[in-house]
Amino acid sequence: MRAVRYHETGGPDVLRVDEGVPIPEPKADEVRIDVRAAGVNPVDTYFREGAYEPATLPMIPGSDFAGVVDAVGGDVTEWAVGDRVFGTGLGNWNQGSYAEYAVAGADALAPLPTGVSFAEGAAVALVGVTAWRALLDHGNLEPAATCLVHGGSGGVGHVAVQLADATGATVTTTAREAYHDRLRTLGADAVLDYRREDLADAIVEAGAPDVILDHRVDDYVGLDVEVAAPGATVVAIGNTDAAATLPDVPGARAKELTVALMSMYNTPDFGDVLGRLARLLADGRLAPDVERSYALEEAADAQRAVVEESFFGKLVVEP
Ligand SMILES: NC(=O)c1ccc[n+]([C@@H]2O[C@H](COP(=O)([O-])OP(=O)(O)OC[C@H]3O[C@@H](n4cnc5c(N)ncnc54)[C@H](OP(=O)(O)O)[C@@H]3O)[C@@H](O)[C@H]2O)c1
Repeated sequence: MRAVRYHETGGPDVLRVDEGVPIPEPKADEVRIDVRAAGVNPVDTYFREGAYEPATLPMIPGSDFAGVVDAVGGDVTEWAVGDRVFGTGLGNWNQGSYAEYAVAGADALAPLPTGVSFAEGAAVALVGVTAWRALLDHGNLEPAATCLVHGGSGGVGHVAVQLADATGATVTTTAREAYHDRLRTLGADAVLDYRREDLADAIVEAGAPDVILDHRVDDYVGLDVEVAAPGATVVAIGNTDAAATLPDVPGARAKELTVALMSMYNTPDFGDVLGRLARLLADGRLAPDVERSYALEEAADAQRAVVEESFFGKLVVEP
């Protein structure tokens, strides 16, 4: 098969398309997917750079996949050849999805609803599981709550806005001006430019948040403490600098805030969360936005773009 691989860790140019890569065989509890689309995520670049040791080199990047079940392991009863599916969790300890075929655990995928494209399925998997776990599992978001999503135009952000809206919560998000109308259409009640100097005041004016999804915790943990409602939960999913300092411990203590740090890779049951996302995709309450699609040969461009360029929603690779 054809697959994007890196034979050493490093910059985007270590990615190359290899021909004749052996088609992977599913183990007893796995399925093989004929990959039609793979999501592009910032974490793909961290793995490629060697921030986390890959189990083996050469390595195929890509956590997210959508495609058609092509073969099933001997113990798999819930999937059949020809099923349209989407899933996530590949890409470091397991070979990834920027390839014509990939294998995944049978419990780490869900049916891709009719009318949802492969590109949309691949786009929503990792960011959807992340947003679900952050807002619902860690944040316990409920309809009477106010939710702040930092960076609403990003992969996680634009799905988090839709999930928060689907719960019935009041949703505030931040983004550059160009994306404000689209975020209102996705369900945001207030959209604020993250560059404005009175950002904290504007967030509080829109409603002190009970749940905050923070993808740049080193930049925003101080603001989070300042704007949070008493008893709020700050869910930290990302950072730009490895160290983050809580500048106002008494303030956080007085409000009895919870700061929860999470990794999507620790999701206990991927299939369960993906199945819930599939129901929202099926009835149109969740619609991932695919900004651009790349060929396998363009994987380096896709990985450059995901960390360097401004775009709305998601980028995908289509083998
Ligand atoms: N812990 C986990 O399980 C987990 C899971 C998924 C992602 N993450 C992490 O979460 C982060 C976001 O992931 P993603 O896939 O959503 O990335 P993404 O698609 O690149 O989105 C990042 C967003 O941040 C916005 N942004 C840039 N500067 C900002 C600022 N100063 N304030 C607020 N927003 C700003 C960008 O908007 P512009 O277009 O305006 O620049 C963009 O919309 C990454 O660090 C990723 O590694 C963690």
